[in-house]
Amino acid sequence: MSTIATNAADIAINVEGLSKSFSGREVVHDLSMQVKRGTIYGFLGPNGSGKTTTIRMLCGLLTPDSGEGTCLGYDIRRDADKIKRQVGYMTQRFSLYQDLSVRENLEFVARLYGLPDARAAARDMIDRIGLKGREAQLAGELSGGWKQRLALGACTLPNPQLLLLDEPTAGVDPKARRDFWNEIHALAAEGLTVLVSTHYMDEAERCHEIAYIAYGHLLAHGTVDEVIAKSALSTYTVTGDDINTLSAELLGKPGIDMVAPFGTSLHVSGRDQSALEAAIAPYRDNENWHWQHSEPSLEDVFIDLMGRSRDNFQ
Ligand SMILES: Nc1ncnc2c1ncn2[C@@H]1O[C@H](COP(=O)(O)OP(=O)(O)OP(=O)(O)O)[C@@H](O)[C@H]1O
Ligand SMILES: [Mg+2]
Repeated sequence: MSTIATNAADIAINVEGLSKSFSGREVVHDLSMQVKRGTIYGFLGPNGSGKTTTIRMLCGLLTPDSGEGTCLGYDIRRDADKIKRQVGYMTQRFSLYQDLSVRENLEFVARLYGLPDARAAARDMIDRIGLKGREAQLAGELSGGWKQRLALGACTLPNPQLLLLDEPTAGVDPKARRDFWNEIHALAAEGLTVLVSTHYMDEAERCHEIAYIAYGHLLAHGTVDEVIAKSALSTYTVTGDDINTLSAELLGKPGIDMVAPFGTSLHVSGRDQSALEAAIAPYRDNENWHWQHSEPSLEDVFIDLMGRSRDNFQ
């Protein structure tokens, strides 16, 4: 542990060189990262890229094959049990009892964790998550959005210091997602550290920091602005007639690293600005299309990272 200076007061997670293989296939490769206490840290990346595996290693729920580090000041290898007691984990699938009511589910969790007054704890949580009036409803009969809120309530009930939310809002409508995120921010403001994986760009933008993982490699991390700046992408937004034809023509041209449709416009990006300018020059005089230099969006950056990682690692 000598290489890692851990200040338990403000660093929640500090790991170096984590790797993990399943059946001889490496799914997380040499991953190092730090998470400050009280931050909402988002994990993004394509399916099967190692987000869940990474998050589970960071919290001592899964032992890495190599690498070391601390979570909440505890060694992730030696003190996994101590860490687990401080972690609330919302898995990718709904894990509460469908045939117990809202109140019964929460009381069950409260008893499981040995809270002194399970009924009062459940009642307070029902107030907090706005499920008052639905206490008697079976969890399995709640809408998707309410299920997620109940699951969040259940995993925060034991008062954890770290929350681990694995795609908590998959399949939930936009209003419910927004409410859910407001609640996550309220929890972080109380000092909770939150690790969350998501496929939604708007959710990534609501994280204090993000990490992008593809094929087991941590490709970018930092605040959204830092990740965009570090990409060094130069982007043009093109509007006009028949942008599909334009897209097909530009794709794969030297200097053009990414072409992606966004609604009725096309984003054209390159990592070498002068090469990009040269590549698009023949198309800029065409009056069918209007070209405007723009900031790359987070999505542009991720699409570019994913394309490059596919070439490098797959
Ligand atoms: N217990 C396991 N045994 C064998 N292989 C596993 C196990 N857990 C994960 N994997 C494999 O490891 C790779 C990474 O999986 P992981 O679940 O970490 O990805 P992910 O980024 O969370 O994906 P998703 O976005 O689909 O949730 C996948 O190829 C997966 O099939
Ligand atoms: Mg996952």
